Amino acid sequence: MNNPVLVLNSVSKYFENAGETLKILDDLNLEVFQSTKNMIYGESGCGKSTLLNIIGGLDTPTSGTIKAGKYQIEQMDETALTQYRSVFLGLVFQFHYLLKDFTALENVMLPAYMTGMKKKQAVERAKTLLQDVKLENRMNHYPAQMSGGERQRVAVARALVNNPALVLADEPTGNLDPSNAETVRDILFSVVSQYNNTLILVTHDQGISSYADNCYRLQQGKLILQ
Ligand SMILES: Nc1ncnc2c1ncn2[C@@H]1O[C@H](COP(=O)(O)OP(=O)(O)O)[C@@H](O)[C@H]1O
Ligand SMILES: [Mg+2]
Repeated sequence: MNNPVLVLNSVSKYFENAGETLKILDDLNLEVFQSTKNMIYGESGCGKSTLLNIIGGLDTPTSGTIKAGKYQIEQMDETALTQYRSVFLGLVFQFHYLLKDFTALENVMLPAYMTGMKKKQAVERAKTLLQDVKLENRMNHYPAQMSGGERQRVAVARALVNNPALVLADEPTGNLDPSNAETVRDILFSVVSQYNNTLILVTHDQGISSYADNCYRLQQGKLILQ
């Protein structure tokens, strides 16, 4: 088998709350292999965002180790983490976080341009991705001129613009009605498959498990393979 893209070894995250210790992640282990689509299902408040934030270097574990590609996450400083996020990761959240004064095309090309791609190339790459997410007719529209589903599709295109090894999606369809949620989900899985990216998607919606290669349940701080 090829080397894993991501290895979590005995990761714990505790929060102190009113003198009580909440064990959100408890000695959790995970191996994720290249080009697989992984879904983590769990009830609201079980620690899904905490787990993705730790993998994304946005939060730190209480204990344990996280290795993503060549990066040993828990040992890295903020500068190294910023570099890791911009070259290794693509992030999609429940909220789109698009820049409101920039068009869809500009929002998608910016992460590529800011990490050193020539402007012309970044524009071409962004156009291709916007076609992939079926927004070729919306390239010059601003976020306010698009629907919630379209904005999330722009966010998916932006997450993939640097061809990240690992895409982390935190309830990317959580703010959408069922029909738009299905469209965005189909598009996310299809572009990730097309470019052979590795995906970890967390959700409280069990309905999408049939799309994933591996499906886990996060319960009592541990991942259980379904
Ligand atoms: N900074 C924090 N301090 C204390 N408790 C927190 C903090 N962040 C998250 N929690 C708690 O950790 C639990 C898991 O939160 P979260 O990872 O956001 O869950 P999910 O994404 O699965 O809904 C929740 O009970 C939440 O209240
Ligand atoms: Mg969450």
